[in-house]
Amino acid sequence: MTTRHLLDIDDLSAPELETILERAERYKRAQQQGENHEDLSGQTLGMIFQKPSTRTRVSFETGMTQLGGHAVFLGADDIQLGRGEPLKDTARTLSRYVDAVMARVFKHENIEVLAEYSSVPIVNGLTDDAHPCQTLADLLTIREQQGGFENVSAAWVGDGNNVAQSFAIGAALAGIDLTVATPAGYGIDDEVVDRVADLGGELTTTTDPVEAVADTDVVYTDVWISMGQEDERDVRMDNFEGFQVNADLLEHAPDASVMHCLPAHRGEEISDGVIESDRSIVFDQAENRLHAQKALLSWLLE
Ligand code: CP
Ligand code: NVA
Repeated sequence: MTTRHLLDIDDLSAPELETILERAERYKRAQQQGENHEDLSGQTLGMIFQKPSTRTRVSFETGMTQLGGHAVFLGADDIQLGRGEPLKDTARTLSRYVDAVMARVFKHENIEVLAEYSSVPIVNGLTDDAHPCQTLADLLTIREQQGGFENVSAAWVGDGNNVAQSFAIGAALAGIDLTVATPAGYGIDDEVVDRVADLGGELTTTTDPVEAVADTDVVYTDVWISMGQEDERDVRMDNFEGFQVNADLLEHAPDASVMHCLPAHRGEEISDGVIESDRSIVFDQAENRLHAQKALLSWLLE
């Protein structure tokens, strides 16, 4: 049997996505009701981190514990990878010990190398280009909040970054109409736009945040300066002016819920008032990382 990986969200078909979201809902109920769901008893997840993390690290580790398994944190500087051991050797070695590997790396090609050489599933825990586990949680959250995906529209406002790109592809898979508003030069990659089109997705791109959010159901944003882009801070702060999700912008989207993958930089991409308001569902998103990833892992390992 071929080993399945999740390098980006379109490694799943629409029916597979549906299966995982249903399983996530089951796990969420099981956890809330205190029912045993130790479906990964005796299994181990290796977790490679080249960048910091709060949600991804804790939700994967806790998820494995709740499923009866175990997770091993492998900070890139704590393993031989940090001293130059090739990724392909790391992948083959870890495959001899653990049942799956989750990795957060800089270059997307690096997660592809891990997958090429690993005989166990590789899960992308964020690269410079993609964040599919975030998308799984986002779709679970939207589905809970909107009662499904039918006739749901969403707007992305800000940087066309890793989170935006996976969300755009995930929205296409789920059938959500998406408008992406970014400053010129910060849009999602053409290659991602093509993948959305291949999936039949309804994607509009614009440089006007007001046009993007008009009467939408969901407004989603993320930081203007992602991990690894710290040197671009001054230029980016100038170029993203006018793209903050704040009360003025939300006047154009009176019914919209507000999403953010977190961590948020209040006063930059989002105002404190909005993130603390009743419209904000950011902590539901964060919680759903746990349920969605448990579903993903048990599906990959069954
Ligand atoms: N949203 C997200 O991936 O958060 P962390 O960087 O804390 O893992
Ligand atoms: N776009 C952000 C997401 C962090 C979860 C980053 O890459 O830093």
